[in-house]
Amino acid sequence: MTKERGSFSRLGFILAAAGSAIGLGNIWKFPYMTFENNGGSFVLVYLLAVAVVGLPIMIAEIVIGRSTQKSPVAAFLALKKPGWSIIGWLGIMTGFVILSYYSVVAGWTVHYFIKSVGWSIRGFGPETAATLGDQFGLFLSRPFAQIGYHALFMIFSMTVVIFGVKSGIERLTTILMPVLFGILLILVITSAWSSGFPEAIRFLFKPCQISPDSLLEAVGHAFFTLSLGMGAIITYGSYMKKDESVPRSAALVCVMDTLIALMACVVMFSLIFSLPEADRTQFSASIGVMFTTLPKLFYSMHGGFILSPLFYILVGFAALTSTISLLEVVVAFFIDQLNWSRIRATLLMGLTIFAFGILSALSLGAVQGLSVIRPLGGKSQGIFDTMDYLASNWFLPVGGILIALFVGWILPKAFSRKEVEEGHGPFRLHGLWIFLLRFVAPLAIGWIVYSVIILGKSFN
Ligand code: PFF
Repeated sequence: MTKERGSFSRLGFILAAAGSAIGLGNIWKFPYMTFENNGGSFVLVYLLAVAVVGLPIMIAEIVIGRSTQKSPVAAFLALKKPGWSIIGWLGIMTGFVILSYYSVVAGWTVHYFIKSVGWSIRGFGPETAATLGDQFGLFLSRPFAQIGYHALFMIFSMTVVIFGVKSGIERLTTILMPVLFGILLILVITSAWSSGFPEAIRFLFKPCQISPDSLLEAVGHAFFTLSLGMGAIITYGSYMKKDESVPRSAALVCVMDTLIALMACVVMFSLIFSLPEADRTQFSASIGVMFTTLPKLFYSMHGGFILSPLFYILVGFAALTSTISLLEVVVAFFIDQLNWSRIRATLLMGLTIFAFGILSALSLGAVQGLSVIRPLGGKSQGIFDTMDYLASNWFLPVGGILIALFVGWILPKAFSRKEVEEGHGPFRLHGLWIFLLRFVAPLAIGWIVYSVIILGKSFN
């Protein structure tokens, strides 16, 4: 157990954790959720959820990881609370499940990047939203394409993780995160010239009616987007140095994640609001909106032939910095717990997750039997939806509650104070932080779990 675990530099941790947080959830899921929930007030509730539930739990996860310098299962054993290592086991299962379908969607960005380079060179042609929809449907039903792109993305992720914490994860994220921000900034600046921009900004910040369901969605999404509730941040925290400030790093990650999500909204809404009113309904919660509506919009604006490929590469990069964190959770367990070498753990687990993900890849039309089944009754259709349903509605919220309760109630206050102050100095908000973990976070998340169980709601 004396293996060199590796550690992040100061900026390395922040960029890697931000890389984990910033992903499809920000660029694809958040804009359409905001659109569906009528903008303004939903954004406000979401910001509140990040501040009072997300941030305290992120600090809690880093505290667990950094104080023990261990991956989630081993961390709770090291804290002499073996029963709580259930959080770690749940996290590994969640990482496994999310990565298996997330990598499928991530693979589509590679396909659409290639496709949009083709469009940019040959001209976009007479594609309409309907023909783009047909093409997308056809793409989903091609088994070899689905498995191939999923495989490609898993290979990218495995390659990075094999190189380890410093030369793999840190090196990649310190290159990709600034690039990602730069690309998004170019897109935001360009969209500022579109006719839909003023309305997009108004939509994002105008107050509106908000339903209890939207509140729940906002809290649920705060989890997914910040990579909380499954040990990813515990794992990255275990590579963080002791002379860094935990609260400041966590706050910075939350701010960056939120900023990118809002920027993605500005880009998408400017495009949408440039359309005539009647056509706006195309922008729906459908998973394919990024691949069916957006290309047409891009190519209808100036510079679209550059912006469209840039957009897909942006989404692909964002997804990659998230998939590596999902894989790292699983890999770190086998390294820490079973003393496997990094190469062995990455190859074996990467391949296993890839194999499991084939079920999701084929469940969007390629194989009828996997696409129409409802393993959880009426809840969701097909393996892909079912995996997303389980992870978003069950695994992440339950993991989140347990982490909040553990640090709020079980970990001695003196211990958490010492850890959170190490590298930070006196932490005046310690009392507030513990209060949020003890009461606010468990109640807010408990409400989600209650709604899922009793009211049969779904938040994916
Ligand atoms: N936070 C990522 C996103 O918003 O796309 C998804 C994610 C990554 C969730 C890593 C959980 C995780 F551990």
